[in-house]
Amino acid sequence: MKQFKVVLVGCGAMSKEWIRVALEIPKLELVGLVDLFPENARTRATEFKLENVQIGSSLSEMLEKTKADVVFDVSIPDAHYDVALEAFKHGAHVLGEKPLADNLARAIEMVNAAQNAKLTHSVMQNRRFDPNILQVKQFLESGQIGAVTTVNSDFFIGAHFGGFRDSMAHVLLLDMAIHTFDQARFMTGCDPLNVYCLEFNPKDSWYAQGSSAHCIFEMTNGVVFNYRGSWCSEGFHTTWESDWRIIGTRGTLRWDGGEDSRAQIVSETGGFLSKHSETNLPKLEQQIATGHEGLIRDFISNLEQQTAQATPSSDNIKSLAMVFAAIESAETRQRVEVRWA
Ligand SMILES: NC(=O)c1ccc[n+]([C@@H]2O[C@H](COP(=O)([O-])OP(=O)(O)OC[C@H]3O[C@@H](n4cnc5c(N)ncnc54)[C@H](O)[C@@H]3O)[C@@H](O)[C@H]2O)c1
Repeated sequence: MKQFKVVLVGCGAMSKEWIRVALEIPKLELVGLVDLFPENARTRATEFKLENVQIGSSLSEMLEKTKADVVFDVSIPDAHYDVALEAFKHGAHVLGEKPLADNLARAIEMVNAAQNAKLTHSVMQNRRFDPNILQVKQFLESGQIGAVTTVNSDFFIGAHFGGFRDSMAHVLLLDMAIHTFDQARFMTGCDPLNVYCLEFNPKDSWYAQGSSAHCIFEMTNGVVFNYRGSWCSEGFHTTWESDWRIIGTRGTLRWDGGEDSRAQIVSETGGFLSKHSETNLPKLEQQIATGHEGLIRDFISNLEQQTAQATPSSDNIKSLAMVFAAIESAETRQRVEVRWA
């Protein structure tokens, strides 16, 4: 039985995956597709053979017409604020693409608007549904490497996108780093306090600005999180999930962002160097739906059961605040406090 009527806004590249998943969840009924350019919505409707779906360019009119319960926001970052506020005005819950908003003031307003309207608002931070990251998180929680003290992530990919990213300011921090920053928060359970950031554009870069950045975050529990990233780095690419070295009081965990995750744990002390035993991280026991599919299914299931969401905007705003604090630090060349209220 269908329980939730859904309108999807923004029928560009990413919408294909959202529509694919929406059509596989029996409790969802996709009732409307909205895009600034309705031909984009029509293209998706044809592609997925959606005969009964409404097409439009105004979210407000679509919500009046369909009385949808949920809005999936797959529009561009600049539009997320207007989409969410319009949805809340019509009493609809929102699951929106990352980033939550294009600036922090708007993100704060969106979080407050959802809370005032008593509606659910979550953000697509799909890596939280990656079995490899869940395996790392569980291992850290088991305490086998002791208390985490330092988190180091390397992200090096020579990505030749072409298009808007080539001329975008702060391109790496704004368009990519949110994933890595959110991963660090998710794995450690720590929140950001302060950041120092140096942003740069290597010689012969094919980007206009900010293709590379190094950040040092001071986090809660005394944890230091080092981020070194570049979208303008040829050779020895890391995974898109970054290469991680996480140091605890009794050992170190290494994760390549993919299948390879190992830990060395102190087995004998007393000498100049301690002895260590090495172990591969145990695989996750339960099978989970991954990525976008995992998060969309989880969002609907929590909505239905009125249980806590995995990526509520009220928490995701902390990862977004890391991005804007890093940008402010890069611009002022000062240490910046990470604030989200
Ligand atoms: N989670 C991930 O891994 C991931 C990956 C890629 C993109 N994204 C995010 O997904 C979102 C969409 O990215 P994309 O690659 O599909 O972009 P896109 O440019 O291909 O598509 C965006 C669509 O939104 C429409 N649009 C723009 N403003 C609108 C508005 N005000 N109202 C209605 N429609 C509007 C555009 O016409 C276009 O059809 C972005 O926020 C992006 O950051 C997330």
